[in-house]
Amino acid sequence: ATASEPYDVVVIGGGPGGYVAAIKAAQLGLKTACIEKRGSLGGTCLNVGCIPSKAMLNNSHLYHQAKHDFERRGIDVAGVSLNLPKMLEAKNNAVSGLTKGIEHLFKANKVDYIKGAASFTSPTSLSVSLLSGGEQSVEAKNIVIATGSEVAPFPGGAIEIDEKQIVSSTGALELQQVPGKMVVIGGGIIGLEMGSVWSRLGAEVTVVEFLDAIGGVGIDGEVAKQFQRILGKQGLKFKLNTKVLSAEKKDGKVYLTAESAKGGKQETLEADVVLVAVGRRPYTDGLNIEAAGIEKDSRGRIVIDDQFTTSQKHIRCIGDVTFGPMLAHKAEEEGIAAVEYIKSGHGHVNYNAIPSVVYTHPEVAWVGRTEQDLKAEGVKYNVGKFSYTANSRAKTNLDTEGFVKFITEKETDKILGVHIIGPNAGEQIAEGVLAVEYGASAEDVARTCHAHPTLSEAFKEAAMAAYGKPIHM
Ligand code: FAD
Ligand code: NAI
Repeated sequence: ATASEPYDVVVIGGGPGGYVAAIKAAQLGLKTACIEKRGSLGGTCLNVGCIPSKAMLNNSHLYHQAKHDFERRGIDVAGVSLNLPKMLEAKNNAVSGLTKGIEHLFKANKVDYIKGAASFTSPTSLSVSLLSGGEQSVEAKNIVIATGSEVAPFPGGAIEIDEKQIVSSTGALELQQVPGKMVVIGGGIIGLEMGSVWSRLGAEVTVVEFLDAIGGVGIDGEVAKQFQRILGKQGLKFKLNTKVLSAEKKDGKVYLTAESAKGGKQETLEADVVLVAVGRRPYTDGLNIEAAGIEKDSRGRIVIDDQFTTSQKHIRCIGDVTFGPMLAHKAEEEGIAAVEYIKSGHGHVNYNAIPSVVYTHPEVAWVGRTEQDLKAEGVKYNVGKFSYTANSRAKTNLDTEGFVKFITEKETDKILGVHIIGPNAGEQIAEGVLAVEYGASAEDVARTCHAHPTLSEAFKEAAMAAYGKPIHM
């Protein structure tokens, strides 16, 4: 396309939201381009988020198991040691393989990949500052903004991230040495995942959390408590109800000042490395949305309606840069729905059926409502729980910590929420999501045959417990 020949769809941002939207648009027969300034596709998720963190989580888990868990399984391995450069290399290989894979998908689906930073010059035109130098102007009938999010800086600028000693998640994926002492500010998902990685590799990790529970937004209170107990047994230390105020670098160390969340008593925490994990914020730098005539809310999110449309009907917006949970699969669902709206006027995302997963060991996963939500709303509900200690497969695997918990509507048995802490929770939750999506009752799940011996039997038995009794507990 040239400036005089507009694209049907131009997607700004090549993250999970943007690249999926671009591929889907091309598959629907729309002439499509995707503009990405990073130099590689996949956005935060593939480059510095989901993928590298899961590579480090998996390999640090295997290392930790080999070192501390193999012996009781009758496996004697002498001299297990960490080769950190190699572990980082394995992570980098996973990232580069996957980002190149998307480039291939673009070619296969005939999506034009424009490498550069896009900026609105009018509601229908963009100027792209190309990575190879120079500018390209791009005209579009429809635009999908998918510019994602960035690390939220520490409030008030009191702690400056240098990505070496005071790191964000990005620096925490690149540490060249295992820190002696690591303090993690924020007990949300990033704090717990990256804290687990470095704890398994040998760091003494303390997580400081402002709230009275770990796990971030949406976690069930009972799960959060069990989660903290289990991570505590693994060696992570927690300081809840504690607010970090500031940091000072001195003699190669970082000294953090913290105080009780209610105010008052101050203390100093010493660390070799500090991870700041206090959230992410929408990213629109350089996009010049003023020229497009669209709005942001007070938290920097681009404002859209329930069809992902901004105040300009031909400009839609998806993913981390707009409302909702900052999750890759949420961005992907929105990407598909947004271009379906463009093509046919119809699209759909069920926000009640978006899973959350924390990839620690054991994993924590959930979909739908929590007990504390329902209590607050006065909804009458049943709870069905089944513990992995009573599951045969978990027993054979010597991996029995955790439980499955169903929350159902008292009167109808309809599933309102499923919460899992346990081995493979992140895969198992897919069944819960499917059940919620189809409006299933707990009895529907319980009357579905699950293979023996599998962890999924704990899922079935928790469903049985929600309206009656489980067999094995
Ligand atoms: P992004 O992935 O942020 O992509 C936006 C892209 O737009 C970027 O590549 C950026 O360079 C580009 N861009 C921005 N402005 C412009 C412009 N003007 N011109 C051109 N290009 C531009 N989520 C999960 O679901 N599971 C996980 O396990 C998980 N783990 C995570 C671990 C970490 C450490 C982090 C930080 C995040 C994790 N997330 C995870 C969250 C996930 O990464 C995001 O929700 C997801 O990447 C959002 O996708 P997006 O497409 O909206 O934005
Ligand atoms: P988060 O919002 O999940 O957690 C931040 C935590 O920091 C909160 O619990 C908050 O109370 C605490 N906090 C804030 N200020 C503090 C202070 N001064 N002192 C102590 N504690 C403080 O944000 P996080 O972990 O940075 O993750 C950002 C986003 O990335 C999340 O919204 C999540 O959706 C996404 N993500 C998803 C993953 C997954 O799906 N597995 C993995 C990693 C990130």
